[in-house]
Amino acid sequence: MKGIILAGGAGSRLYPVSKVYSKQLTLIYDKPLIYFPLSILMLSNIREILIISNEETIPLYKKLFDDGSDYGIRIEYALQTAPNGIAESFIIGEDFIGNDGATLILGDNIFYGNLDFIYKAMAKNDGATIFGYRVNDPERYGIVEFDDKGKAISIEEKPAKPRSNFAVPGLYVYDNEVVNIAKNIKPSPRGELEITDVNNVYLNKGKLSVEKIGRGVAWLDTGTPESLLQASNFFGVIEDRQGLKVACIEEIAFNKGFIDQKKFESVLSKIPKSLYKTYLEKILKEH
Ligand code: DAU
Repeated sequence: MKGIILAGGAGSRLYPVSKVYSKQLTLIYDKPLIYFPLSILMLSNIREILIISNEETIPLYKKLFDDGSDYGIRIEYALQTAPNGIAESFIIGEDFIGNDGATLILGDNIFYGNLDFIYKAMAKNDGATIFGYRVNDPERYGIVEFDDKGKAISIEEKPAKPRSNFAVPGLYVYDNEVVNIAKNIKPSPRGELEITDVNNVYLNKGKLSVEKIGRGVAWLDTGTPESLLQASNFFGVIEDRQGLKVACIEEIAFNKGFIDQKKFESVLSKIPKSLYKTYLEKILKEH
């Protein structure tokens, strides 16, 4: 299974910062936002990852992660010339995906809690699995409707009159068919290749599973200044309480055995004096 992080887009709701800076690099408490989706892929044992972004931001991601070897993973980068839609990821990523399945995570989506729902979906590798998460503001998302037996019967992108409160989070697990499907959908009236159209193709073929995620999992939105502050506060509280970091990619790489102790020490030696370094030194000592 290959992993893709889509991390471009205009981020215009964060103006003026968006004039010079990418949303996925803004700080969530103590680390850049993109660490969160990257850590989800790593925790799911995905070690081949494509980061798709625009011309200005790719060099910054490269500066952050290089080829991924510090974290025992392989990271490639690909250009999306304009925000032509989420489903374009699979066209841009065709060669990278090869004959494998592909899990796509949006670079601004944060998940926290018991991640078994993701691991289960990835173990299947047949058809597509997406998720349903109850939200208060369904007009802003892809919305899935269920029948009384709990079977998904429709998915609509940002409906004016939502048929349910179940939003589809930006985490999608597909088999290899997704590349062909993405190539054959047409741009929507807003000019984008919609991920909801891809999901509807799977739904119509009877190949789509929609798994509900319970309230014990946090799915956080990060599109606006308010939601960024909420996410920062959320992780500030958790990290302060436990003395453990969330989405610390060096720690995840070490704990999962993607890198050995020698590599971890060499990665540590390159980090400047900081609270982040002190934390990683503590992890090494307790190991
Ligand atoms: O967050 C979940 C929602 O994400 C889903 O419920 C919707 O079905 C899905 O369409 C999407 O809705 P958004 O309105 O959040 O999509 P947005 O256009 O904001 O794009 C999400 C992220 O992907 C954003 O950080 C920018 C990036 N992006 C987006 C597009 C369309 C790109 O890098 N390239 C693109 O072409």
